[in-house]
Amino acid sequence: MNNYIELINKKLEEFMPICYPQKIFKAMKYTVTLPGKRLRPVLCLEACRVFGGNIEDAIPTACATEMLHAQTLIHDDLPCMDNDDYRRGKLSNHMVFGEANAVLAGDALLSFAPQIILKNSKNLGAEKLVKITEEYCQAAGAYGVIAGQAVDIESEKLYLDEDDEQSFEILNFIHEHKTADLFKLALRTGAIIADADEKQLEAVTEFAQNLGIAFQIADDILDEISTFEEIGKTSGKDKNAGKLTYTSLCGLDKAKEDLNKYINRCFEILKENAIQSEIFEEILNKILTSVSK
Ligand code: IPE
Ligand code: IPE
Ligand code: MG
Ligand code: MG
Ligand code: MG
Repeated sequence: MNNYIELINKKLEEFMPICYPQKIFKAMKYTVTLPGKRLRPVLCLEACRVFGGNIEDAIPTACATEMLHAQTLIHDDLPCMDNDDYRRGKLSNHMVFGEANAVLAGDALLSFAPQIILKNSKNLGAEKLVKITEEYCQAAGAYGVIAGQAVDIESEKLYLDEDDEQSFEILNFIHEHKTADLFKLALRTGAIIADADEKQLEAVTEFAQNLGIAFQIADDILDEISTFEEIGKTSGKDKNAGKLTYTSLCGLDKAKEDLNKYINRCFEILKENAIQSEIFEEILNKILTSVSK
């Protein structure tokens, strides 16, 4: 895992020279290169490896998933969204570069990321590049993260009730789109680059869906139980903002119980499909242990 992370960090640096206007390129690079966990690019490279691909071929796409992720973080932290002053242990993008530049840097990353793929992956051929671009558009746009974020914001301060079946539907919609869709992008594109067949693609999609939901449940729990030092962002923010989260809806214990179920399902999917990956297993175990304190 650390080798992957080192490689990704090196490549992110390479793919992001500072050009004119420097303010924008610096703002884009700032959030991308702050020390995140690099989960999505790691998942992309590992999906490529487990299905027999060459990870070198997946590097631009893996880095693009991290750039898109950073874009979602920059906009998520804006005063008009979650209004977060800190990200990845440092001041958030708009706190350093101002709101206008943070909006522009996010917008810029949205098209910079697929450009990195197209510029640096010509060896994949037109057919795969079309497929990857389609995956990217699906995840980044109104069918993907935007849908999740829109409903996340719309559900603030509604204080929905656990007994109402619709509440879970809304919560799952938010989690699936704001979070799992980027995991799907990372894992599916890695598999596509490796020429995975339909059955393998289906398996990796189901894995991404369960992993993404589990990851967001853990994020919701951590917001409640962690300190700034542990998560690098202000804790307790969800409750203050009246966010609809897994813990707001059903409490910490049930959130942990369901997190376990989603993670177990991930392990099952790996087993059922004979996918052998210490890295996938390490990530699943890390998510589980992150909330146990
Ligand atoms: C934060 O993602 C946004 C969510 C989907 C919860 P990460 O927890 O992966 O953030 P970094 O990349 O490590 O900063
Ligand atoms: C973020 O969800 C999801 C995206 C950025 C798309 P959160 O709002 O819970 O993420 P954090 O907690 O700010 O990282
Ligand atoms: Mg948010
Ligand atoms: Mg947020
Ligand atoms: Mg959160």
